[in-house]
Amino acid sequence: MEVFDAILHRRSIRKFSGAPVDRAAMERLVEAAGSAPSVANAQPWHFHITSGATRDAVCGVTALSTVHLQEYLDLLPPADYEAAERFFANLGSAPVVIVVSVPVPEDEPTRINDTLATGCAIENLMLAAFAEGLGCCNITFSFWVRDKLADLLGIGEEREIISLVLLGHPAEVPEPIVRRTDVATYLD
Ligand SMILES: Cc1cc2nc3c(=O)[nH]c(=O)nc-3n(C[C@H](O)[C@H](O)[C@H](O)COP(=O)(O)O)c2cc1C
Repeated sequence: MEVFDAILHRRSIRKFSGAPVDRAAMERLVEAAGSAPSVANAQPWHFHITSGATRDAVCGVTALSTVHLQEYLDLLPPADYEAAERFFANLGSAPVVIVVSVPVPEDEPTRINDTLATGCAIENLMLAAFAEGLGCCNITFSFWVRDKLADLLGIGEEREIISLVLLGHPAEVPEPIVRRTDVATYLD
């Protein structure tokens, strides 16, 4: 697949068939992620790639998010509330949940650099997944349960979780969305 096609057509997938993801494909995605640019080639990212029982345990922790989101979820109609609860408990049936971490930053510039670089790595991974016929969604809603996730996965205090990436075979075609076109200022 052409790079430009993947960039223009990738979409976030939040419903998966649950079918397992081939290990060789996952390794290709990790290679794509690890090929991202980073300040002085720092490569600050780490990916805990969970499937099977560990993935189920991750879902057990993310399910607790609803407790912390109660106030927000109370604003939703009951059907949406239930959908959100189901999503947090099963992460769209994604067979693979990738927990992304970076070193705890020493200062603000490092925090920005590491976060930007890791965003590049995640996008590489998601584009590569799309090219493989797989789907992804990068989710950051896990703020409230990151300490519990770190304990579960043995992530030490020197690193912090910044994102989860759901990965699997898509079981939905997302509705079209509008992209902003007023994003650039051209100066001569
Ligand atoms: C930094 C970041 C955080 C995101 N967090 C969430 C999230 O917590 N939950 C979610 O469902 N989607 C999340 N998304 C996915 C966005 O909602 C999605 O990228 C956006 O709506 C555009 O849709 P598209 O990815 O299909 O182009 C996140 C995306 C990014 C880049």
